[in-house]
Amino acid sequence: MQEQWLQQIQTASNLAELDDLRVHLLGKNGVITQQLKTLGTLSPEERKTKGAEINALKDEIVLAIDKQKETLENQALEQRLSSEKIDISLSARPEPVGKIHLISKVIQDITQYFSQLGFQIFDGPHIETQELNFDALNIPAHHPARQSHDTFYVKESDDILRTQTSPVQIRTLREHKPPIRFLAPGRVFRSDDLDATHTPMFHQIEGVVIEEGIHFGHLKGTLIDFCRWFFEKPDMNLRFRPSFFPFTEPSAEVDISWKNDKWLEVLGCGMIHPTVLRNCGIDPDQFQGFAFGMGVDRFTMLKYGIDDIRSFYNGDTRWLDLYGFGAL
Ligand code: DAH
Repeated sequence: MQEQWLQQIQTASNLAELDDLRVHLLGKNGVITQQLKTLGTLSPEERKTKGAEINALKDEIVLAIDKQKETLENQALEQRLSSEKIDISLSARPEPVGKIHLISKVIQDITQYFSQLGFQIFDGPHIETQELNFDALNIPAHHPARQSHDTFYVKESDDILRTQTSPVQIRTLREHKPPIRFLAPGRVFRSDDLDATHTPMFHQIEGVVIEEGIHFGHLKGTLIDFCRWFFEKPDMNLRFRPSFFPFTEPSAEVDISWKNDKWLEVLGCGMIHPTVLRNCGIDPDQFQGFAFGMGVDRFTMLKYGIDDIRSFYNGDTRWLDLYGFGAL
């Protein structure tokens, strides 16, 4: 019987069959269990030898079942591993990778440049009061910039979409006292016709320096160095052409010498008007300062040879492959 049982255990082909055998032999009413129960009816002498014999048999059976169980479990695992294999060798479909827009890149580059000169960065809202966009900047009510063909008015409100980043001058200077240097980059809005050089939304960077004893020489030096760095032309010539802005006095427009010795206007600047300083609670006899405002779109078009401003905003992502920079 022992031989036969061991044989059956070793050839059990699955775990259920093996468990049936275990119950048959070692279960509550199993064959070997029954044998053990008969020990009580034997004489002490017989019980000793028979008991040892049956227990040895039991141990052998238990061992054989455990071993076969392990073998069957390993087999089952092998089978699962080979049947459930996932093929991960197929390469992933390429995901489109985002890039930084050229305008954002230029704003980052310029703010980084001025940060190194100690400029802080400030921000203002797109919807602005007329007081901050015009009045406090010394732009009187009759100024053409206030006429509806330039300015977007907000319905049922006196507010407008800011036409320039200059109101951030007022916002910042009413909160932070000089000495101070800062930039204010951002979007501005004008009700211009759409053509190759005009969009109703574009970008400016405002720059302000207010300290004791600041003069026009500081303004010139700062902007000459900046333009030479930005356009990567160390010997680029700049022309400071007298101009008019209500919030600066004297005022100038800056032209850069471009191809074929052509002059191109790139920014407006000047010494901050005493009235503007006073409007911000700053004493013009103690502090002087300069300001400048540049069109980011214009700077970007010049540097990267883009001749239609609308291509910045038409949402064609293929354009980013030409002009976008790196992954986001
Ligand atoms: N805000 C002016 C504009 O949009 C640009 C400008 C000119 C800004 C001179 C300045 C400045 O800060 O000093 O046309």
